[in-house]
Amino acid sequence: MMRVAILISGGGSNMTALADSMTGDHPARPVLVLSNRPDAGGLARADARGIPTAAVDHRPYKGDRAAFEAALHDTLCAAQPDLICLAGFMRVLTEGFVARWQGRMINIHPSLLPKYRGLDTHARALEAGDTEAGCTVHEVTPALDDGPILGQARVPVRAGDTPDSLAARVLEAEHRLYPAVLRRLAEGDRKRLDLPQR
Ligand code: GRF
Repeated sequence: MMRVAILISGGGSNMTALADSMTGDHPARPVLVLSNRPDAGGLARADARGIPTAAVDHRPYKGDRAAFEAALHDTLCAAQPDLICLAGFMRVLTEGFVARWQGRMINIHPSLLPKYRGLDTHARALEAGDTEAGCTVHEVTPALDDGPILGQARVPVRAGDTPDSLAARVLEAEHRLYPAVLRRLAEGDRKRLDLPQR
């Protein structure tokens, strides 16, 4: 059984999509939901599902990323995960931390990478006049939003779309893509998955 730790910073809708998919004959189970914000709404959602939770608040570290990440690393090691899923985790991890978990850490990003690494992906797609948007699950490497792609899902950009309306459509696609990629990985299949436009 693959042991999965999920890192969040906010409401955790991707975390719940992952957690709710890991039931029955699924070859993975969530062993920890960890947040850098003790007030993250996703912690209560994980708790309600009986998943162990923890918080390592980044603020008391006052920018000392090495010390913050050492605490994060220790909390993760205690749960012994085989795989870490970043799900709306909004801290940029250092090269050193990524190197310790390389090949065992994946992330979901709300754009069709390599387009629009970083933030404000939906506003940038609308500004560019794109007719299609989407999301990407990729392996985490030291360069931000740059690792090998494990899956993508596409959505149409509609007339009158705002960053919020597009974000809502992409988030729905995220909730389909991330569990599908996780299931493949847990079954030992690293082949890229492309979900067609809906
Ligand atoms: C998602 O759009 C994710 O792609 C991005 O942050 C958002 C988090 O949503 N990194 P949630 O916390 O999973 O609801």
